Amino acid sequence: MSEKDTVLEIIDLHAGYDDVQVLWGVNLKVKRHTLTTIIGANGAGKTTTLKAICGLLKNVTGKVVLNGEDISRIPTHERVDKGLVMVPEGRWLFPEMTVLENLRMGAYPKHARDKREETLEWVYTLFPRLKERANQKAGTLSGGEQQMVAIGRGLMSRPEVLILDEPSLGLAPNLVLDIFKIIQELKEEGLTVLLVEQNVHLGLAISDYAYVMEHGKIVMEGTGQELENDPKVKEAYLGI
Ligand SMILES: Nc1ncnc2c1ncn2[C@@H]1O[C@H](COP(=O)(O)OP(=O)(O)OP(=O)(O)O)[C@@H](O)[C@H]1O
Ligand SMILES: [Mg+2]
Repeated sequence: MSEKDTVLEIIDLHAGYDDVQVLWGVNLKVKRHTLTTIIGANGAGKTTTLKAICGLLKNVTGKVVLNGEDISRIPTHERVDKGLVMVPEGRWLFPEMTVLENLRMGAYPKHARDKREETLEWVYTLFPRLKERANQKAGTLSGGEQQMVAIGRGLMSRPEVLILDEPSLGLAPNLVLDIFKIIQELKEEGLTVLLVEQNVHLGLAISDYAYVMEHGKIVMEGTGQELENDPKVKEAYLGI
């Protein structure tokens, strides 16, 4: 089997908030057309890692390399233009705007604007529910539907790497499964996905590769299956 190439590489990332350092030299790689997951306890630094990758934090040191290009010094919107898109934890929709308006907001990068209506049809194919609810205010949707809008809005910007922070948070079990199915489908459609997930069992089950983060460092890595079978992971994260 040929080795898949690396689309996103994080090298020796240090970051934090004001005078609190959270990340202490994070290294990770995301291969093209794969699903890579970061797992770890509350407060381990997973969201901080994603924010640093997207350029949302000050005083970050280390490198973020996308398709061989060092993007560490460019602002967030330029990283989005280059295909790096995050769907943040907590969804951040515009509740007074309709589903359709929220989705269209996602198509702001230059390369996404021209393909907006075509991408919208693709998003509606993935989430038929959103087509039915197109003219409903986003704030009146259920939690699961809102998560679909958040992912759909991310897709509207035509990402190459889609970053998802806890997409299953707060959803009922059947909706969690729906969201995981969609994430897998996105990978099958050629997207590269970097996922942070509380649901360690399902997260590892759909991952090609995964990293375990503790206290702002990567402490273990392997294929989803390797980590699922690892005694330390089982004890600490799977409750077995
Ligand atoms: N805006 C902030 N200002 C100050 N400290 C913060 C801020 N956001 C997070 N932290 C701190 O940084 C550390 C890592 O937080 P982070 O949100 O990255 O963890 P996480 O792994 O995503 O956890 P969770 O699983 O709970 O989402 C925590 O100690 C947290 O209290
Ligand atoms: Mg988090």
